[in-house]
Amino acid sequence: MAERRRGSGRGRSGLGLYGAAAAVLAGLESGEGSLKTLVYGSSFQNPRLLFALVSETLRYSDVLDSILGAAGLLRIEKKLQPQLAKVLVYDLLFGKGMCGGGRGKALVLKHRARLQAELARLKVQKKVSRNEDLLPPLGAEDAPRVPRYVRVNTLKTHLDDVVDYFKRQHYSYQGKAGSMEEVSSLSGKKFFLDPHIPELLIFPPQTDFHDNQLYVAGHIILQDKASCLPAFLLNPPPGSHVIDACAAPGNKTSHLAAILKNKGRIFAFDLDAKRLATMSTMLMRAGATCYQLAHQDFLATDPRDSKYSQVKYILLDPSCSGSGMTNRLPVEENAPLPERLQALAGFQRKMLAHALNFPSLQRLVYSTCSVHQEESEDVVQDVLQQQGKDFRLVKILPSWLHRGVGAFAEAKCCLRASPKETLTDGFFVAVLERRRAGASEESSTAELPETENSTGGDACPVPKKRMKQARSAL
Ligand SMILES: C[S@@+](CC[C@H](N)C(=O)[O-])C[C@H]1O[C@@H](n2cnc3c(N)ncnc32)[C@H](O)[C@@H]1O
Repeated sequence: MAERRRGSGRGRSGLGLYGAAAAVLAGLESGEGSLKTLVYGSSFQNPRLLFALVSETLRYSDVLDSILGAAGLLRIEKKLQPQLAKVLVYDLLFGKGMCGGGRGKALVLKHRARLQAELARLKVQKKVSRNEDLLPPLGAEDAPRVPRYVRVNTLKTHLDDVVDYFKRQHYSYQGKAGSMEEVSSLSGKKFFLDPHIPELLIFPPQTDFHDNQLYVAGHIILQDKASCLPAFLLNPPPGSHVIDACAAPGNKTSHLAAILKNKGRIFAFDLDAKRLATMSTMLMRAGATCYQLAHQDFLATDPRDSKYSQVKYILLDPSCSGSGMTNRLPVEENAPLPERLQALAGFQRKMLAHALNFPSLQRLVYSTCSVHQEESEDVVQDVLQQQGKDFRLVKILPSWLHRGVGAFAEAKCCLRASPKETLTDGFFVAVLERRRAGASEESSTAELPETENSTGGDACPVPKKRMKQARSAL
């Protein structure tokens, strides 16, 4: 950032540097002109200094929104103008430490410790040590911004109550989202109902509810839409016995418990003791009771053990490269080595083959947060080929446009999700179902949760013509 000569630039309007920068930000927000036009059109005497401060504040804009929201600064200091707060907090935390003066400075300085603590908390949450690492990776500015998805925890509350709560908080409810365009242009204090997952609400990106009382009380779960698909598509009826083979930290387990209405049993396994401890706290907060946690290798379970004799449903979400997670580096920079991918795929194949050995199993969901075919379609294809003809792929959500890839025809039965195509994290989901005796070998359209938007009963693979027609439908 350009070297600042403090106090060198009070403009004709009498605004100091921070005030002038706040005025430029406000002008940008209300579409009054471009950054350059507003800076050079301002009466501030040192436009280069002003340009540098506004550009840097904008670069950190999402980070600053998170910190300001978490610290509740604007809620407490009602007289502080939002754009001025942003510039001042930028300079305090990431710039020169607020050596300038002006009317908002004292108000912000009162909260210095809290703001610094929120910055530290954000770094821990994002697992980074340097301030710059909080910034989106280069080029990510063009990537679509994934909304904040909020799953209503029906074990503790009702969708209508949560919608009413947010309305009372001055959010404006827009009903069910109808198109990708609607969701991607979501901003301000508006929110939608998701068209696929019945208890999922959609808020603008960067909305932070980590301090919200509903989140703290376990009434809402902050879970990306793609990560809600596996339990939603497994859809075990209340009373069922279900295995969650790789369960920690447990968002999908708590979703399963909600679908089961806490009636039935979830056998939840994980190898990682720390993640299991977090999961235990999270499940308690969510009010889930129908589960048994086991710190155990799923591969070491005996499918013939009588305690699993009624297990008809398995959710398998094994460790993967994580290449679909939007909070990581872009795929090219984060690409796992081919050997690592092969090792992961070998493990995933073993896990899937093992799961299919449970004698009463009727339906299994296999999911990964990976963008790599090797960990997804290829695993499903290989295991289905090896295990004979007992299981087949189910055509899930026929109206979902982003389908599985790969050489085998049934790949189109599977779902893919990505920031660009579905405004979610990158994800893969396949649903396998045991063939009924005498049933044909084709993939099936099983009784799975569908929504009004779905056409249901589509042939698989999805014909190209239909894909084009429905291009902008969610
Ligand atoms: C992708 S994460 C699961 C996320 C989880 N389903 C959720 O929604 O919160 C994969 C998990 O598999 C666990 N894991 C890896 N190998 C395992 C094994 N052989 N048996 C059980 N769990 C295993 C890891 O410890 C990790 O917690």
